[in-house]
Amino acid sequence: MRRKLAAGNWKMNGLAADLSEIEALAAAHPAPRSEVLVCPPATLIAQMAWKARGSAVMVGGQDCHARPSGAHTGDIAAAMLKDAGASHVILGHSERRADHGETDALVRAKAGAADAAGLVAVICVGETEAERDAGETLGVIGAQLRGSVPDGATAASTVIAYEPVWAIGTGRTPTPAQIAEVHDFLRAELGARFADAEDFRLLYGGSVKPSNAAEIFATSNVDGALVGGASLKAADFGAIIAALDAA
Ligand code: 13P
Repeated sequence: MRRKLAAGNWKMNGLAADLSEIEALAAAHPAPRSEVLVCPPATLIAQMAWKARGSAVMVGGQDCHARPSGAHTGDIAAAMLKDAGASHVILGHSERRADHGETDALVRAKAGAADAAGLVAVICVGETEAERDAGETLGVIGAQLRGSVPDGATAASTVIAYEPVWAIGTGRTPTPAQIAEVHDFLRAELGARFADAEDFRLLYGGSVKPSNAAEIFATSNVDGALVGGASLKAADFGAIIAALDAA
């Protein structure tokens, strides 16, 4: 049985005052069936990990560098995230692919660095609206998956998140059939490469909110969610956790 995972991505949001949301979340969900992960901006990782200590809430980074250390001004190494209290790191988010030109090869290298530091990598894939309209969805996602996930990946070291770019922050979501098509495809593609493919968690991300969470979590091969905007408030993210626990 795959343990479900509710992951929050705060993106470039959050100041120290917002850590009260994590205390509220931890208090409201002392023993969730699902794993719970929140990925704040790097500036808050250590403080959030301290606030969340002893609770079910795990803390993650939103990116790391591919190198273990060195002359890379402004970048953060995987071991630094781990040292600050992170257990996971999001890699290859579409916003980083778009804003920073991250390639599949770079994401793969970062995933190797994360694994070497003992972090679970949450590797993101997803098509743009133009790619979906052109009928290229599975081709694009297959190429991202092959290129971004290292050969040494295991279900313990790696989580895959399907985030259609056109669904992120737009309030639009794919139909359950569209999500199932991609998630079933991801499972099959992993099966061609990894002996433990059945154990990889596959998250859906893109405008997940309390009102649509149950329907999404009832979809084939959806093992949880990567949540942006609705992860910022304990009440909303808590409702999503409850829906996942009930799925
Ligand atoms: P939203 O939930 O705000 O659409 O963001 C999704 C996302 O990009 C999570 O990584």
